[in-house]
Parts: sequence; C-alpha cells; structure tokens
Amino acid sequence: MRVERVFERAADLISGSRFCVALTGAGISAESGVPTFRGSNGLWKRYRPEELATPEAFFRDPELVWEFYKWRMEMVLNARPNPAHRALAELERMGILRAVITQNVDDLHREAGSRNVVELHGNIFRVRCTSCPYREDLKESGRAGEFVEETDVPRCPECGSLLRPDVVWFGEALREETIGKAFHLAQEADLMLVVGTSGVVYPAAYLPRVVKEHGGRIIEVNVEESAITPIADVFVQGKAGEVLPVLVNRVEAAKAGENLPQRE
Ligand code: APR
Ligand code: ZN
Repeated sequence: MRVERVFERAADLISGSRFCVALTGAGISAESGVPTFRGSNGLWKRYRPEELATPEAFFRDPELVWEFYKWRMEMVLNARPNPAHRALAELERMGILRAVITQNVDDLHREAGSRNVVELHGNIFRVRCTSCPYREDLKESGRAGEFVEETDVPRCPECGSLLRPDVVWFGEALREETIGKAFHLAQEADLMLVVGTSGVVYPAAYLPRVVKEHGGRIIEVNVEESAITPIADVFVQGKAGEVLPVLVNRVEAAKAGENLPQRE
C-alpha cells in the first residue's frame, strides 16, 4: 500500500473507532533518548538481563542491580516526552484514546499528559521494600534526584531491609489487577495502536491478539517489522515521533471537517 494510502487508512480507522487503546513499548521513548532493549543499540545487546533484571540477580548483587537502575532513573529524569507521547495524550483529550497500556517504566506517558496509563511492568520511580509493605513514589515524594545520588544500597526506612525497584523483572508475574485491566481494555477495544514494541515479551504481546480475537483491528507504528506486524491491519513504518503527530493532525482535521456547517 502506498505511504499516503497507509496514513489515510490509519487516520480513518482512528477517526471511526468506538473504543481505541494503545499498547506501547520502548520504541515510543527512543526519540526521548531512552534506549530500547533489543534494537541495534538496545540495552540487552550491551548487558545481560539475567544479571540485571531478575530477582535472583538482585539478591545475588543488589549493588550492581541498583547501579543499573539508578543509571536508568537518571537517564529518564533527564528525558522529556517526545511528540509521540504527546500525540497519544492529545488523542485521549479528544476522547478517542481510552487508555495507554505501556510496557515502559519511564513515566513519560504520564509526563506527556496521558491520564489513563496502565503500566504493565511497573514504574522506575517507584520503590518498594523486599520485606514489609513499605513503598514510595519518588516523584511524588520529590526524592528522585537525591535517591539517584545516594551511593549506598537503598534500605527501607521502616524495617531496614533492602528496597527494590517497583518494576516487573523477568520471571516475575505481573500484578493481577494490572494485567486484568489490560486484558479487559483489549477485549473492549475495536482498535489498538501498537507503537514501538518488538512484541516478543508476554503477556503484553498477547494483548493485540486479544483485540483481533474480539473483532478489533490493529494499527502498528514501528521503524521496522516486529512480531506483531503479521496481525496488523495497517503497518505504518516510521518513527513514532514523526508518524503519530501526522495521524493525530489528520484525525483532528477530519473531526473539524465533520463539525463544519454542511454546505447545502
Ligand atoms: N519509533 C517507533 N518504533 C521504534 C523506534 C521509533 N523511534 N525506535 C525503535 N523502535 C522499535 C524497534 O524497531 C523495536 O521493534 O521499538 C521496538 C523496541 O523493542 P524492544 O527494545 O524489544 O522493547 P519492548 O518491545 O518494549 O520490550 C518489551 O522487554 O526487556 C523487557 O520489560 C522490558 O518492557 C520491556 C519488554
Ligand atoms: Zn521494610
């Protein structure tokens, strides 16, 4: 399909959707300077996830794992939402996008103004105790900057045990409530925008399939084909920060066109 036709088709599907949701991955934050995991310069090309992103790795070497996560926290603290994050927030404001289901832990969707955000893999600015119920949202408490600067391994102010990042590591289950909400949204959706994910990590990668099984359609935005592309109804090849604003502008123009007084 010619590029122009692809954009037209995607914008038409978005404008005509009844219940649109987005599923995003690391690719949507790439233009904010946050590295992806599996691309050519991906984190898992440089580091071994089994040494940095599993419960075993953490209890084996909490200093190393905290060094990795503080490095990522600092990087994300200096990152800003890019036009792709803002385009999804705009679609939500227009009443078209009902929710963003994200695999990202970088908080950039919320920073961009998205309000209904389902964080499948947690949030890098939340920490929790490995022993007691203590948890802290470092952005809310305003302690993110100083937390990153601390050199010691963070410990629980209540019981002294190790604190850990409140993210989902490999081999860990997602929170029941989170995955339940995501699956419910996918069942309701007649359209899912899948943006910047390789589609190889489950259960997130099931969600586009749930949409299809319930008769919904998939628009994928990615710089290259992914494991989701075979089930995409429309594949828009390109950078999310360039593609999504164009699609939202077309949807806004179509909406404005609808509201114009119809000439007799
Ligand atoms: N615009 C759109 N897509 C992009 C861009 C961009 N500017 N840059 C990269 N991409 C695409 C890549 O082509 C790739 O398909 O984003 C995708 C990133 O894939 P991954 O690095 O595998 O990230 P993701 O799919 O989010 O990984 C899922 O794996 O490591 C775990 O928990 C981690 O949440 C993560 C999960
Ligand atoms: Zn504790």
